Amino acid sequence: MKPHMKHGTIKKLVSTSVVITILGGLYLVALAKHETRAAFREQPVTLTIGCNQKFQKYNLQAGDSYTSPYVTQQTGQTIRLAGYSEQDIRAIQRGCNIIDDTLGQDAKLDIERWNSKRYIRGKQTSCDHCHQGIGDKQNDKGQRLVGSLSMAASWSNGGDTYDRFTGLLLPFELRQMQCFINSSNGYKPNIADDIIRDITAYSRFLSGALGLKYHTRYAEQGIDEVSVSMTEKRGDDYVRGAALFKQKCAKCHGKDGRGTVVNGRVIFPAVAGPDSFNKQSRNYFRFVSTILPGFICRNMPLGQEGSLKSQECRDIAFYISNLPRPAGDREGPVTAAWQQMMMFAMPKLIAFFNPETTSAQINNLDNSQNSSPK
Ligand code: HEC
Ligand code: HEC
Repeated sequence: MKPHMKHGTIKKLVSTSVVITILGGLYLVALAKHETRAAFREQPVTLTIGCNQKFQKYNLQAGDSYTSPYVTQQTGQTIRLAGYSEQDIRAIQRGCNIIDDTLGQDAKLDIERWNSKRYIRGKQTSCDHCHQGIGDKQNDKGQRLVGSLSMAASWSNGGDTYDRFTGLLLPFELRQMQCFINSSNGYKPNIADDIIRDITAYSRFLSGALGLKYHTRYAEQGIDEVSVSMTEKRGDDYVRGAALFKQKCAKCHGKDGRGTVVNGRVIFPAVAGPDSFNKQSRNYFRFVSTILPGFICRNMPLGQEGSLKSQECRDIAFYISNLPRPAGDREGPVTAAWQQMMMFAMPKLIAFFNPETTSAQINNLDNSQNSSPK
């Protein structure tokens, strides 16, 4: 009996120490990773071209106080705000990079603090595709535009965070998370994640740089929505929408709406298919029918914004939402599998039934009016 017991104890000792060594090892690896990532927080941020221009325009600098040249230029007044520390500056800069280049294509390393690729499923998403002007869209005169999804105005309205779709009071951070999950068809960052905090830091900076006031609703916040009552009441029409899409949108977004990517760089983002927003996004017409038409009427076709009628925007949005796209986060595996199947099969079906609309022809459509991005 005795030697057997001894044997059992030794076995236990060995297995316990193996478990402890493995867990301890993992812990040490985690600590080391944490150290590296923490060190990255202290490193200077290499800005995207767009963010570099933005911060030059707004004169972002560390100091005891901050004065925005934009406010002085627009109002003739010089307003001094609390200044930013070096650490604040880096957070603000990273926030800008995240909005401008969510997939981290300009990031040198995967672990760079602003590289948000790990939160996105598709290969084309960037917050800036919808929150244009890196969350701060303006016209040539520096005027902010109605319904331009301004990140600054959204932050400024932080005192009124009522979300009519969920009926909840959602802070700015949770609104970002919703957009990560559905509009960007990705994963939810932790609310305390640097990514979320940096976006907030950037939006708050913008709000100051534009001279916006807290707890105030501005017209550039959100979307200038287009409801049925604003149309000619002819009903939303798939056939009209399809024709308009082919004529006005396909040359940039592709005939299936799957976007144009050249050398791995997104030139025109997908509005359908695996790289687009999902079915639980508010951009999805059958979920919220006023938002996508509102976006299209104010922001598209790029270079000819405002040229479409309300009815046309609704028709196009209706058509776009009939193209297959990823399932939303609450739809379960059956819908997800079905959507995957549709995304795979649909382009082939379209080509089979419409052999005459080859992509070459679509690309030739309107080649004369060659518009360029941005
Ligand atoms: C496909 C378009 C699209 C993309 C991509 C997108 N958003 Fe949005 N976002 C929207 C729309 C539309 C709304 C307004 C929804 C509403 O009214 O509830 C919105 C709302 C928001 C809001 C709340 C705005 C407010 O006024 O309160 C925040 C914050 C936000 N988005 C952050 C982000 C971030 C961060 C990203 C990138 C990870 C992102 N969005 C990507 C379309 C998009
Ligand atoms: C000249 C090229 C061009 C044309 C034409 C054009 N777009 Fe876009 N579109 C863009 C670019 C570029 C973006 C990304 C935003 C940016 O960088 O300004 C975009 C963004 C979008 C988005 C938001 C991005 C997303 O992920 O969903 C939608 C929706 C959209 N376009 C719909 C349309 C529709 C509908 C039409 C036709 C009425 C159209 N576009 C015509 C270039 C174009």
